[in-house]
Amino acid sequence: MNNLSFNINDFAKFKQLKYKISMLTAYDFFSAKILEEAGIHTILVGDSMGMVIQGKKDTISVTLDDVVYHTKAVRNGAPNTFIVADMPYLTYHTDIKDTVKNAGKLIVDGGANAVKVEINHTDAIKHIEALISAQIPVMGHIGLTPQSINMFGGFKMQGKSQQQRNHILNIAKQLEQSGICCVVLECIPHQLAKEITQLLTIPTIGIGSGASCDGQVLVFHDIFGFNQSPPKFVKKYMDANALIKNAVHQYINDIQINISYLNENPSEVRLCK
Ligand code: KIV
Repeated sequence: MNNLSFNINDFAKFKQLKYKISMLTAYDFFSAKILEEAGIHTILVGDSMGMVIQGKKDTISVTLDDVVYHTKAVRNGAPNTFIVADMPYLTYHTDIKDTVKNAGKLIVDGGANAVKVEINHTDAIKHIEALISAQIPVMGHIGLTPQSINMFGGFKMQGKSQQQRNHILNIAKQLEQSGICCVVLECIPHQLAKEITQLLTIPTIGIGSGASCDGQVLVFHDIFGFNQSPPKFVKKYMDANALIKNAVHQYINDIQINISYLNENPSEVRLCK
């Protein structure tokens, strides 16, 4: 963990140098290992695990223990990668002391280097300031914040109306002042994402918000084709669903072949015992 190939200082450096920051989600040892070996800059242990690991329809019921558990596994697979762990719904909305304790678990028990916090209300800024004074790096997340879907009326693009636009711009500016290291912009109009990216000195990491952001993040199961109905903006880099199904068919078939071979060669059955 002391040997990170990309660390907290690189967020600002990459923005200055106009290098794009790559981020993908991971939730387990082997996928984290693959991402580290492939050279990803940073891994997010996202609460999207509620949907792609637990098979739920949203992220609301993911718990702190869930994220700690998966962060530990990801840390084991990616010992030298900057890992960001998501703070689940209601772990940073009540008492500020609880916010710091909860984030502390992700850092101390999980082994994360930073936490990500979804912000759709400026009231949450005081929680972020408390985290930063406790020396916990914070990544903000604005726009379509999935933990707010009950307020949004579903998974809907944010920032289309003038009012939403001003709201998002205001939060972005306040977040920057609070000292966060970077901010995820999820599903906002590309022009607005460009404006925020130009306005802020910290990097923006986009998801469904266009190519102008300083980096991009996507969900592992979406881009590799495990999820057969990913969001529309997702580029599929591999069809894992088809590849794995095909491999399973081969396995089933291989077993049948072995059985027919053994039926025809009964003397070899003893070798299998
Ligand atoms: O939980 C998650 O995976 C996320 C990304 C989609 C940004 O928050």
